[in-house]
Amino acid sequence: MSKPQLLIDTDPGVDDALAILMAHAHADVLGLSVAAGNVGLTHTVRNARKLVDLVGASTPIFAGCPSPLVRLPEEDAAFVHGRDGLGDVGFPEPTATVTDEHAALALLRLTRERPGEVTLVALAPLTNLALALKLDPTLPQRVKRLVVMGGAVTGHGNTGRVPAEFNVGFDPEAAHIVFEGFPDFDLVDWELTLRHAFDEAEFDRWLAMGDRRAAFFGRVYQVARETNRQRERHGIIAADALAMAVAIDPAMIVRSERRHVGVELDGRLTRGATVVDWGNRLKLPARANVVMELDHARFGAMVRKALGAQ
Ligand code: BDR
Ligand code: CA
Repeated sequence: MSKPQLLIDTDPGVDDALAILMAHAHADVLGLSVAAGNVGLTHTVRNARKLVDLVGASTPIFAGCPSPLVRLPEEDAAFVHGRDGLGDVGFPEPTATVTDEHAALALLRLTRERPGEVTLVALAPLTNLALALKLDPTLPQRVKRLVVMGGAVTGHGNTGRVPAEFNVGFDPEAAHIVFEGFPDFDLVDWELTLRHAFDEAEFDRWLAMGDRRAAFFGRVYQVARETNRQRERHGIIAADALAMAVAIDPAMIVRSERRHVGVELDGRLTRGATVVDWGNRLKLPARANVVMELDHARFGAMVRKALGAQ
């Protein structure tokens, strides 16, 4: 089987970091388009450069939007990922460079060069992707698949706004544009992530067995691990890694449900919430393939390879 060709929109971010390691271990990575989200764009771009250095690749990096489309965000996720987005471990300046093309334009160009071949993997607020879609609404026609990490399909969420998940809550208008503009996409939500956390002791064994990628991840994950413990979230939670597993191998999906998923753009308590029409009462197009269950053992094997821990 030929390797999938991935274009990754990302805001690294420690779980983005693991996802990017997985992508380089299992797929052809055409580029990293970078958004603001977990932390500001200066940091997320620098972190993308660090990750490209780490994997020893020449993956192009494109800087994207520094803020959401409409409203400034209420919060970032530095309390999970560290103030610099990668655990504040103090890396030296990376050597990988940033390509002089806006992320949204790069998404359009690279999909034009390979019509029908590229899987888009959205691991960040959907600002860059929404902008690309507004510039060229035919984008979905030449994309092979879109996989989105975002949403909280039963309203648990992980932000200050109770039902909202971070990527959708950071830029709800962008998520709305993408969810309405793509006729078909896989949605890996926050709650699936919690159901597919790794056992901490087992994950620590992988880190101990692994190569420089494992050593790196072990360092950058410390802040997130501590934050999760304080919030009584159990196990090693890696949302973007889960979405990446689905992007690399759709056969990982054990159960999914095709539904209409709306994004609440107003709402006193609910701005940024994903509203799933579970009963098809609205009779709207069911564009989202909401992933409900994955092959956890295969997910683990994919992560182990990406850490050099086989
Ligand atoms: C998502 O939000 C970010 O903090 C993570 O990197 C992930 O993309 C999880 O809700
Ligand atoms: Ca992310």
